[in-house]
Amino acid sequence: MSNLVGRYGNGESPRPGKALFFCCLLAALAALSGTAQAGEISLLAPFGNEQELMSRNRIVNLVVKVADPQDLDTLSLQSAGGGRAYDPTGRYEKNGVYYVHYSVHLKKGDNDFIVGPVRLPVKIRYIPLSSLLNLNFDNPDLYLFHKNEVMPAECGGCHGAELPARLQKTARVGYGQVSTQCYSCHQRIVEAPEWKHFPASAMLCRACHRSDPPRAEVSVPTGKVEDICFGCHLNKERWLAMEHVHGPVGTGDCTICHDPHGSNSQFQLWTDGKAKLCVVCHEDKKKFIARGAEERFTIHTILSARGCVACHSPHATEHRFQLLDEIEALCISCHADLKGVEAGHPVAGHPLRGVGDPLRPGTDLICTSCHDPHGSEYAFMLPADVRGGLACAKCHSGGIREKPKRPAWMGG
Ligand code: HEC
Ligand code: HEC
Ligand code: HEC
Ligand code: HEC
Ligand code: HEC
Ligand code: HEC
Ligand code: HEC
Ligand code: HEC
Ligand code: HEC
Ligand code: HEC
Repeated sequence: MSNLVGRYGNGESPRPGKALFFCCLLAALAALSGTAQAGEISLLAPFGNEQELMSRNRIVNLVVKVADPQDLDTLSLQSAGGGRAYDPTGRYEKNGVYYVHYSVHLKKGDNDFIVGPVRLPVKIRYIPLSSLLNLNFDNPDLYLFHKNEVMPAECGGCHGAELPARLQKTARVGYGQVSTQCYSCHQRIVEAPEWKHFPASAMLCRACHRSDPPRAEVSVPTGKVEDICFGCHLNKERWLAMEHVHGPVGTGDCTICHDPHGSNSQFQLWTDGKAKLCVVCHEDKKKFIARGAEERFTIHTILSARGCVACHSPHATEHRFQLLDEIEALCISCHADLKGVEAGHPVAGHPLRGVGDPLRPGTDLICTSCHDPHGSEYAFMLPADVRGGLACAKCHSGGIREKPKRPAWMGG
């Protein structure tokens, strides 16, 4: 893959707006071999002028090499079409050559940039992914910085295993095969998260970024990422043997919920894991955590305090819907006044056990026969208004004095 090079003709000093641009193989080869030519501005990362970046991380780093320090004054990075101009995050010098670093937030779809004054076009198509599980790494358009090597030799001039002085202080010494080299470019991954994941913060990057056989110099773990996770979290492998395994855990997609490096939410989840995370996928449950105050709606109070995980395991349990216990035991663990009550709720003499549920043939009457555990349009999370006996009428269609019609399977 050739680097793109913008160049001023005949070594003239640059004049903004009048620059010539051409992409020249010779100059590209020169750039690759590291010999700088006067008047040359080249793009070292990303490689090539058209890229597809598929990631959940929308930040991309651009490194522009400037052979003639005079060009630094006129160098610019702009969104195409006279859009936003970006400030470099740093300009670093080695042997008289400057390496100007930019960090850019991408928007979904096409992102077009121009490196000025040489009008070098850079096109990055950003495809946000929530999981890399099924990513095709053989796609030639896919931008992978580490596809063939850890880094181009030129970067190594500064990004060696020896860290820049400022970093030597902050780089934590861990144990195992510590990848200090990764830190010098990816320090944000190590430092930024509030909730850090130990192997990432200890710079044990290679514990996960390898593949067998090697697919690239630095591999992105794919397939069933759980294989990696269970490598250390041995005691969690038992989840897979449980009766009810949550969908994404069953497919081995741990990182669809957990950021493997760390995040600003507890347990390194991409967002608050109590409830917000769940309703990203379970959209129909969104109304139970965010309902307009003006609307008449009863939400199970526990949802705002402890969220979905008050009752469901995000991973696996022995109970249907990955509930933490059998439904009745679960409800009673909080609503202790109904513990051991055989009859007498909601009205005197009303059986709570040992009778069939007319609304759900084949199952016994339990708490959720009458209460939606999440919430409903009606008081007490009932399926209808208790006033006027409407809730009762769901089962006692002939009026509440009458026994509900027994479902056919009970012979009634
Ligand atoms: C002349 C020295 C030098 C060269 C050559 C160089 N860099 Fe850097 N780079 C640095 C320094 C210094 C930092 C900042 C470290 C710090 O934050 O203190 C840095 C930071 C970075 C960062 C982190 C940026 C951020 O905001 O977190 C990335 C990514 C990076 N460089 C990529 C590259 C790549 C890719 C190349 C080769 C194409 C390269 N650099 C070549 C000196 C250099
Ligand atoms: C010279 C700087 C540099 C060094 C050193 C470096 N990276 Fe990267 N890495 C990058 C850049 C640039 C990207 C492209 C994404 C971006 O712009 O942030 C990248 C992307 C990645 C990706 C995404 C897949 C890919 O190939 O694009 C992974 C995974 C990764 N780096 C891991 C590592 C690990 C692990 C190490 C240490 C062995 C390491 N990196 C060392 C600069 C560097
Ligand atoms: C616990 C395993 C694990 C460790 C340790 C780990 N990574 Fe990763 N990393 C992953 C996985 C899995 C992905 C793919 C993420 C996804 O599904 O979005 C990834 C993706 C990346 C990416 C590309 C996407 C992004 O989030 O920017 C970079 C860059 C990266 N890792 C760098 C590093 C560096 C640098 C280290 C060491 C400081 C490191 N990783 C340590 C598992 C790990
Ligand atoms: C190299 C070993 C290693 C690998 C691989 C690894 N972890 Fe960890 N993980 C740890 C260590 C060590 C801790 C911190 C110990 C602890 O708090 O239990 C930890 C902590 C965690 C925590 C927080 C636990 C808590 O109770 O706060 C979560 C969540 C987690 N890891 C998820 C994952 C996921 C998901 C993967 C796979 C992408 C993974 N880990 C891969 C070693 C690893
Ligand atoms: C559907 C999202 C989701 C998926 C997929 C997921 N987790 Fe979790 N994980 C969570 C949530 C939410 C918590 C916090 C639970 C809590 O607050 O009680 C958590 C907590 C954890 C913890 C710390 C608490 C504990 O139970 O020890 C570990 C370790 C962990 N997950 C590992 C994994 C591994 C390994 C995988 C893949 C097999 C995985 N997770 C898949 C959402 C998920
Ligand atoms: C990444 C998407 C995703 C996230 C995030 C997620 N789930 Fe799921 N969930 C699924 C999938 C996929 C299934 C399996 C659906 C199926 O089998 O029909 C599932 C199934 C379930 C089921 C069983 C439903 C049934 O009908 O059997 C429950 C309960 C559940 N999830 C609760 C949660 C909770 C609680 C959270 C938050 C901790 C959560 N989910 C987060 C994707 C997700
Ligand atoms: C108070 C306990 C409790 C809380 C909190 C809770 N659930 Fe449930 N959930 C249940 C019970 C019990 C069932 C089984 C319902 C039944 O038998 O009718 C269930 C069923 C489900 C189902 C499968 C059936 C359906 O209704 O689609 C999903 C999905 C689900 N819950 C997601 C969630 C999500 C997402 C949250 C957080 C917004 C959440 N639950 C909070 C107790 C709870
Ligand atoms: C983790 C504890 C917890 C669990 C488990 C739990 N609840 Fe609750 N529930 C609460 C709290 C807290 C309240 C609010 C109490 C209050 O306002 O006095 C509440 C309130 C209620 C209410 C009254 C709602 C209203 O409008 O006032 C009903 C009905 C209810 N729960 C039914 C159930 C059922 C059925 C289950 C089992 C599926 C269940 N709960 C499981 C904690 C829990
Ligand atoms: C036959 C339908 C039905 C069944 C079954 C049922 N409930 Fe209720 N529940 C109601 C009705 C109706 C109300 C409202 C009572 C009123 O108007 O005062 C209610 C009220 C409640 C309340 C709020 C008032 C209070 O007493 O604190 C809680 C909590 C509650 N139920 C929990 C449960 C639990 C736990 C179970 C399972 C052990 C259960 N319910 C089974 C119909 C039922
Ligand atoms: C989910 C269905 C359901 C709902 C809703 C329901 N019930 Fe029942 N109810 C039953 C069942 C089942 C029985 C037991 C019938 C039997 O013994 O065969 C029963 C029994 C009764 C009995 C006892 C009848 C007798 O045999 O003496 C009374 C009284 C009663 N219900 C009143 C109510 C009232 C009042 C409401 C509304 C607040 C209500 N029920 C809501 C299902 C329900």
